[in-house]
Amino acid sequence: MARVRITDTTFRDSHQSLLATRMRMRDMIPIIEKMDEVGFFSLEVWGGATFDSCIRYLNEDPWERIRTFKKYMKKTPTQMLLRGQNLVGYRHYPDDIVEKFVVKSAENGVDIFRIFDALNDIRNMEFSIKIAKREEAHVQGAICYTISPVHTIESFVDMARKLEELECDSLCIKDMAGLISPKASYDLIKALKKEISIPIDLHSHCTSGMAPISYYSACQAGVDILDTALSPLAWGTSQPPTESIIASLKGTPYDTGLDLGALEEATAYFKEIRQKYSSLIDPISELVDINVLLYQIPGGMLSNLISQLKEQNALDKYDEVLEETPRVRADLGYPPLVTPSSQIVGIQAVMNVILGERYKAITKEVKDYVKGLYGKPPGQINDSLKAKILGDEEPIEVRPADLLEPQYELMKREAEKLGIVKKEEDILTYALFPSIAPKFLKGEIREEPLKPPAEQAASEQGIPTEFRVEVDGESYSVKVEPIGGFMDIAEIEKKKVPSKPSEGAVIAPMQGLVLKLKVKVGQTVKKGDVVAVLEAMKMQNDVHAHKSGIVEEIFVTEGSTIPAGTALMVIK
Ligand code: CO
Repeated sequence: MARVRITDTTFRDSHQSLLATRMRMRDMIPIIEKMDEVGFFSLEVWGGATFDSCIRYLNEDPWERIRTFKKYMKKTPTQMLLRGQNLVGYRHYPDDIVEKFVVKSAENGVDIFRIFDALNDIRNMEFSIKIAKREEAHVQGAICYTISPVHTIESFVDMARKLEELECDSLCIKDMAGLISPKASYDLIKALKKEISIPIDLHSHCTSGMAPISYYSACQAGVDILDTALSPLAWGTSQPPTESIIASLKGTPYDTGLDLGALEEATAYFKEIRQKYSSLIDPISELVDINVLLYQIPGGMLSNLISQLKEQNALDKYDEVLEETPRVRADLGYPPLVTPSSQIVGIQAVMNVILGERYKAITKEVKDYVKGLYGKPPGQINDSLKAKILGDEEPIEVRPADLLEPQYELMKREAEKLGIVKKEEDILTYALFPSIAPKFLKGEIREEPLKPPAEQAASEQGIPTEFRVEVDGESYSVKVEPIGGFMDIAEIEKKKVPSKPSEGAVIAPMQGLVLKLKVKVGQTVKKGDVVAVLEAMKMQNDVHAHKSGIVEEIFVTEGSTIPAGTALMVIK
């Protein structure tokens, strides 16, 4: 019997980490049976961002995807990553939806549920663990690994003990940022081995370059399972290579017992897949990132920060944002940086820097977080930030989902009314992603082309894609998106930009989408009132009146995208 077993992540985390979760099912099908033969502990194939990516970009039914894996995998368990009460989405869902989702996932073919919560708040995991157990699935309770003054070995061991009490079948140390050092992995696993008896899995990423060494020290401490990806989709922000780990452990007490020869065909296959998808690989994600070591910022989060800064035309502020991010994280009580907390922290840091003042604007998500709506933060929230957001109120003490009304029946009725329900699972797809699911379920999503987005190609060649043009003395900003091989004006958004913003103008502090206008022309407002909600960087930001007066004119409409500095309205 092999001493250390392997979970291969090539079908899920590897392409989520390196290829923006874009691998098509048709590119996986030809090799599933080969992978099934190898003798892995499990193959991670579903969950995380795959669900979202399938319906948003690939025009693929995620439920069909898991059924297909199950059809071809006769020997190896299928594994999914479930974000606890967030399922495969970005917010808490009520228990009735969580229950239906877990039941349907098991029914469609998920054998192992790896369940985590971004804040390591077990209350956000309990319910999905209970349902998955009831469905007789293997439940792997996961601890999000991070480094902070409040994340001690004792705190992790304590959480592991609770997960074992909840009857988890195995435990995962989920090191999503690749932060775990060889010594830390040894010490942590040694300590865990003393306290719990379920098998322990170490999941890490190569982002900092330490993962393969940490895997070896994990073996020395008694780890049971290691997560790896086939070499063509390993390294960088992905997992250590399956082949190298198998070879490294050969002949040691940790021998996986797996035959490298059995992987030859699959390795060759994925080399071609890598080639096919090479345009999606960001060269940065292939290099060791010292910022992970310095700032403990996960690789995926860094690329998000870069794209958000680009969007805000503020890439020159990158270094400042890097330094601000750990400060925001500390203010928020050191949440592990994983979806969704990584976005919450990252975007607030970006705003703190580009607005030139810390917490001048606070995103709705940060407010909700401080209110306790994401769960209990691992550490203490900065007092003045807490006072600024909550005033005299106290954060909620209950499990966030306890505040949510059942929603399944409502979602079912809505989806039926839209005529998009062909099977029960479609209701769940709608409940989780109500804004894109209808389009997908009506067959209106076009599969995203695989070749490099032409816009990116154009910018690499130094071709500008955004212009400001003047028509009849009015200023419009125009975005030109190349389609196919030629330049085509795909999207012209008329954005009326008053040429001389008057004194009482409320100015958009950043580029974004006007989500809501909270006032009408003629309305009286007081200084500090919320006059509009701007969605920037996927977060909602309140725009406040800078003075009291009457709204004289509004220049923008809900749903329009505007550049930073746009006058939204005039208050006189
Ligand atoms: Co991962």
